[in-house]
Order: sequence, then C-alpha cells, then structure tokens
Amino acid sequence: MTTLQKLASQASGCELCALSETRNRVVFGSGNPRAAVFLIGEAPGRNEDEGGEPFAGQAGRVLNEALAAAGLERRDLYIANVLKCRPPKNRNPKREEIASCRPWLEQQLTLVDPVVVVPMGNFALRLFQKDAPPISKARGVPFDSKGRTVLPIFHPAAILYNRSLEGTFREDFARIAKIGSSLQR
Ligand code: URA
Repeated sequence: MTTLQKLASQASGCELCALSETRNRVVFGSGNPRAAVFLIGEAPGRNEDEGGEPFAGQAGRVLNEALAAAGLERRDLYIANVLKCRPPKNRNPKREEIASCRPWLEQQLTLVDPVVVVPMGNFALRLFQKDAPPISKARGVPFDSKGRTVLPIFHPAAILYNRSLEGTFREDFARIAKIGSSLQR
C-alpha cells in the first residue's frame, strides 16, 4: 500500500517538468495524514525551497496567525501546494507545470481522503473548477467535487498585499475550524 511517506520519497526525485532543474527541494506537503481538512497553496517560494516545508515564509506567518486565531494548529490539517517545486523568481505556475505536478496532489488527496478541501487562491481553485470566477468572487462559496466539499479562500499572500482582506480570511478560517471540529477522525 502506498503511504504518504512513500509518495513523498518518490516525489523527491521528480523530473516531470523543468522546475526540477532549478529547485533545491521538492516541497511535498505536511500535516496530519488523516486530516479532515486539506489546504492547497500555489507553489513554494524561497524559504520553502530551502527548508522543504510549505508556507515557511511571510505568507506562512499570515497563515499561522489565522490558524491560531481560529484555534487550529498545522497538525490539525494537511497542507500542500499546486506545484511541489519553486518557480524561478516566484513567477506564476505555467499550465504544463500544473499538469505535470497534478498527479502528486491527486494521490495526496486520495491518501489523506479529506472531507473538505480548501484551495487558497486562483491557481488551487482552478484545479477544481477550470472556469472558476476570480477568488475574490469565489471565496466562501462551497461546491462539491468528487464527493468532497471544496471551500475556496484567499491565498495568504493576498492578505500581505491587502490588509483589508484579513478579516474575511480569518472568518473563513473560523468557519473551517467549525467544520473541522465536527469531522474529527
Ligand atoms: N508558500 C507555499 O508553500 N505556498 C504558497 O503558495 C506560498 C508560499
């Protein structure tokens, strides 16, 4: 049986796209392997590429603060990204990179088997809804995907650029905490 650990070890040698030539570390994902709630970010940045853990930089601080305010800890959830490798200079993910990397995330979702999936930002949202409206419209509106509830929220970096979004971001996490606590496994 494949476990997350085995999958992570396979992914650590991934050469499915050209990002393998520029990355330092594959940032596979972290958290509770049986989490009911699965957060999805965009791609590793410099800190993550160096340390190997998702959301280790400034966006991670915003995320940690929102989690703490909602009474959540990282180990209550599972966190991964659309891309496992850092795009040079943190540019946007390319379509072919997303397509190459997607099977890793699909397998993570299968193994963790969360009840609620939380795409953070447009790139993660579009994995579930190709023609989704922008995250500013889509956030907070849940929909079903293959039997799972998908609840899109802002990407934590958006809060760094626009502090007026912080209240909404935190409210969304309060909601996630409430759903999560009713789903303890
Ligand atoms: N760090 C991550 O791991 N993912 C992001 O999307 C942004 C920062």
